[in-house]
Amino acid sequence: MATFPPITPLSVEGLAFAVDGKQLLSEISFTLEAHRTALVLGPNGAGKSLLLRLCHGLLQPTAGRVSWQGAGADQASAHQAMVFQRPVMLRRSAAANIDYALSLRGVPARQRSSLTAEALERAGLSALAKRPARVLSGGEQQRLALARAWSVRPQVLFLDEPTASLDPAATRAVEELIGRIRADGTTIVMTTHDLGQARRLADEIIFLHRGRLVEKTAAADFFSNPQSQEARAFVAGELLW
Ligand SMILES: Nc1ncnc2c1ncn2[C@@H]1O[C@H](COP(=O)(O)OP(=O)(O)OP(=O)(O)O)[C@@H](O)[C@H]1O
Ligand SMILES: [Mg+2]
Repeated sequence: MATFPPITPLSVEGLAFAVDGKQLLSEISFTLEAHRTALVLGPNGAGKSLLLRLCHGLLQPTAGRVSWQGAGADQASAHQAMVFQRPVMLRRSAAANIDYALSLRGVPARQRSSLTAEALERAGLSALAKRPARVLSGGEQQRLALARAWSVRPQVLFLDEPTASLDPAATRAVEELIGRIRADGTTIVMTTHDLGQARRLADEIIFLHRGRLVEKTAAADFFSNPQSQEARAFVAGELLW
């Protein structure tokens, strides 16, 4: 597929989100450069999923802004994809789910079948191509969701707990797939509650607590020498919420 001008860096400035007067995210600011993998960590309810949805443009902030700063910034929404914790599959085959995502992005029919086959192959799902997507197991659906998101070759991929509720083998398979997508140069912003996974995948950690950004640090520093008391407690497994 064609290469497009970059939409990154991603710049988040003074971002806030409130519902019914309740401040759920406040004063979040950070920059994310191209080709980086940022892991958003924090206890339940910290605001991780909200932050991903705001960055992806699914929610509008009540204050502050999300801006894409690369040469292709005006086309930013066409070059990002998101995978949700519980992926929603269409009532059609695994292959047709990918084909449909490609058609939504305007990829011509003659290119779609080879791109679909490649995405299924990459996710280890070639043998299941014709199976109805909704009968696939949780792990298979998660891999299909990733394959579907990757098939459109996003520059930026948002992943919200992509391995929650998967067994260790399925988790490993999904992590490998994320590793390959990352090796292609995709910028990834993802959440997880699996600190081992965060260590394996992250270049940077964005640590949230109670709707605020407490730290954004290089991953190695976050785990070896967290700066804030909250992050220290979180890494030690002591911070509940
Ligand atoms: N539309 C909404 N209306 C009201 N409150 C909301 C809404 N969406 C999210 N919240 C609240 O905002 C807070 C942050 O939610 P969010 O889903 O971002 O947390 P999270 O960090 O992803 O948590 P988890 O680790 O459990 O997935 C939670 O307290 C949640 O109840
Ligand atoms: Mg969440």
